[in-house]
Amino acid sequence: MNRIISNTTKGFEYLLSKITPLSRLYMQPYKRIVQNELYLADIPSRSNVLQIGAGPVPYTAVYLAQMGNLYVTAIDRDPSAVRYAREWIWKMGMANRVEAVYTEAIDYDLSRMVAAFIALQVEPKEQVMDYIMNNGNSGFKIIVREPSKRYSSQYDPIPSKWIAVSRIYQGMPTFKHSNLYIKT
Ligand SMILES: C[S@@+](CC[C@H](N)C(=O)[O-])C[C@H]1O[C@@H](n2cnc3c(N)ncnc32)[C@H](O)[C@@H]1O
Repeated sequence: MNRIISNTTKGFEYLLSKITPLSRLYMQPYKRIVQNELYLADIPSRSNVLQIGAGPVPYTAVYLAQMGNLYVTAIDRDPSAVRYAREWIWKMGMANRVEAVYTEAIDYDLSRMVAAFIALQVEPKEQVMDYIMNNGNSGFKIIVREPSKRYSSQYDPIPSKWIAVSRIYQGMPTFKHSNLYIKT
């Protein structure tokens, strides 16, 4: 599958991660998005959460830590994205709150975690969500951005077998909503 948008975004993040002032501008529009997701998920302060799909500029993880007062483990299956992410987190002064870890989203220990925030570009979503639903504690929350119809060829879809308990409007061209799923 040719994911032009995902590949371009990632290449852009590699560049931006070395230019901190520009990366701060780049992340700005996502402040509202993450604020909405924190409202949707309602996670207690100082909880441990997972952010899946850190990328070289893990702004979602940093906003979760800053606005939600959370401890965030941001994971990525690309080792060089993780190297860049670690350096960027350190430059942002967030290393005491956010750690970047190189791993697949389908073999990570979830026992300390209460929620996972899944990036739009993560795939395969079905396997990732199945793993969390099978291995997360009861009450574990999954927050995932739902690809818009217009860009459906660019992102892996959320499997229809999982029913969202709630969602919040985000209004981005590539995703209109963030959805909330809870393990029963
Ligand atoms: C370019 S980033 C965008 C995320 C953005 N930086 C953020 O903070 O929200 C998306 C990343 O997701 C990673 N990714 C995709 N599928 C994954 C999976 N199954 N497990 C871990 N990382 C994954 C990719 O390697 C890519 O680096």
